[in-house]
Amino acid sequence: MGVPIIIDCDPGHDDALAIMLAAGDPAVDLLAVTTVAGNQTLEKTTLNARRVCTVAGIRDVPIAAGCDRPLVEPLRVAGDVHGESGLDGPDFGAPEVDVVPEHAVELMYRILTEHPEPVTLVPTAPLTNVALLLTRYPDVVPRIREIVLMGGSTERGNTTPAAEFNVCVDPEAADIVFRSGVPLTMCGLNVTHQALATPDVVARFTGLDTPLGRTCAELMTFFGGTYRRLFGFRAPPLHDPVAVARVIDPEIVHCTEAHVAVELHGRHTRGATVVDLHGTLGRPANARVALTLDQDLFWDRLVAAVERLGRDRS
Ligand code: BDR
Ligand code: CA
Repeated sequence: MGVPIIIDCDPGHDDALAIMLAAGDPAVDLLAVTTVAGNQTLEKTTLNARRVCTVAGIRDVPIAAGCDRPLVEPLRVAGDVHGESGLDGPDFGAPEVDVVPEHAVELMYRILTEHPEPVTLVPTAPLTNVALLLTRYPDVVPRIREIVLMGGSTERGNTTPAAEFNVCVDPEAADIVFRSGVPLTMCGLNVTHQALATPDVVARFTGLDTPLGRTCAELMTFFGGTYRRLFGFRAPPLHDPVAVARVIDPEIVHCTEAHVAVELHGRHTRGATVVDLHGTLGRPANARVALTLDQDLFWDRLVAAVERLGRDRS
């Protein structure tokens, strides 16, 4: 069995690929998919998680809906990036998998306490659910092997000049997570911008010649359009699968240790991750911070996972 993980997500084009990587790669054992408000409302991100699991043939993984708004601020969605549905592009039929009747935080807590070994959490969305889990159930900490998250940046942001979306949407939650003492790996924009789904990559998904491969290509094509229009990117960065890839094989994502603080008060910088890469503050490191991506290994692994899931479906 692979490393047991729970993905906490807000699908989202790149979240969709993160779920597929986690479900299709034998190095991880996907125990649950939990959803939170972020890229779109909770209702939409949860529907999208069900759509992704349906289209990828993921039937045996529980899906649970979590928090519908950040801890303090009103919800800010990313309809400009992910579309009105949160997953614009492909035509999804009616989902064939449902959610379990349990709040995401309760499901996470139950799995963490019942699983025979500590479980890795992979949040790819605002950290509201995870912060709630840690504050409501502090006894769960030793049951968490690690938190490997997509969020933040060692450089600039994408939602404000200083702040990355997942941290910017719920900075208080991110602050709780970064100060929790749980072993933490941060995959920020500085590394996820190395995961560009170029036309060659999209062609590899189309070339799988499966409905799932084509769905992935359609997702990347829509995502590519918004990244070109909004940010002038030549290809869209698949942020969220980078965090899953780090769990699958640490050789794919190289990290350094550093102290990371979440800016909560800055007038222009609220939601920024202040990463002390050179140890100038003299504070002990609280995170492994991802710096470089082995792009060949990353894409090989992602394409193979989608191929595996697509083959199992047909
Ligand atoms: C993050 O924000 C979302 O739009 C993406 O799904 C990703 O998790 C990138 O800043
Ligand atoms: Ca996401």
